[in-house]
Amino acid sequence: MAIRHAAIEKNAPLLLILTLITVAIGGLVEIVPLFTIETTIEDVKGVRPYSPLELAGRDVYVREGCYLCHSQQIRPFRDEVERYGHYSIAAESKYDHPFQWGSKRTGPDLARVGGKYSNEWHVDHLRDPQAMVPGSVMPAYAFLAEKPLRFDAPANLRASRSVGVPYDDAMIAAAAADLLVQADPEADADALRARYPKAVTGDFDGHPKRLTEMDALVAYLQMLGTLVEFNDLSPEDLQQ
Ligand code: HEC
Repeated sequence: MAIRHAAIEKNAPLLLILTLITVAIGGLVEIVPLFTIETTIEDVKGVRPYSPLELAGRDVYVREGCYLCHSQQIRPFRDEVERYGHYSIAAESKYDHPFQWGSKRTGPDLARVGGKYSNEWHVDHLRDPQAMVPGSVMPAYAFLAEKPLRFDAPANLRASRSVGVPYDDAMIAAAAADLLVQADPEADADALRARYPKAVTGDFDGHPKRLTEMDALVAYLQMLGTLVEFNDLSPEDLQQ
């Protein structure tokens, strides 16, 4: 065995070819299972597609580059779990296109920021971060409260569906209405909540009559990490 090994090590092209073959086998073992991603990430109770308003808010989040300073991925380390809550599981981001994982944390991880603060806090913080957290290096996004939300909800839901998000025809038909209902404190939101359980409704930006990008962004922030009840899950569920 040792002699044959010496023969390989002394022959550079052979060593190169055999190394590539070995690495390729390792790569295949890791990559091939991911082609069956539908079965790799199992269903976890509570995970649902974004409501139209949340999806619009997510677009604002991505457009503004919030991910440059904020990850949405709590790693299974004790310090992270104690600070941010239960570690993230793959199913929680399975409807994200693109996902918001990462390790760049100029600001805190936002994977479970939903429900941590009131809507007013988020609006005040986004308008003027330093007013809420002295010394914060986060830029101000006050203009979002002045920008009317322009979002073609049915088209966006259809686009998401084309990449595998399970929006059904009823959701797409109701999308334009759902977008308005979620941010209207006077509207009857029962149908919306039947389609999107746990959707946070109401006026987000402090202007009930106007639908702004601020409404959408805060609706999105308020649902992050709130969908899965971790106490109800078995240890097997959490291995995904
Ligand atoms: C230049 C880096 C930077 C960018 C860009 C940035 N943030 Fe922040 N963010 C921070 C820092 C630093 C903090 C911690 C201090 C504070 O709360 O202001 C923070 C805090 C937060 C918090 C409070 C989190 C908590 O758990 O207390 C939220 C929510 C938030 N940011 C949302 C956003 C959103 C939404 C955007 C995009 C519109 C954004 N941030 C863009 C740096 C940034």
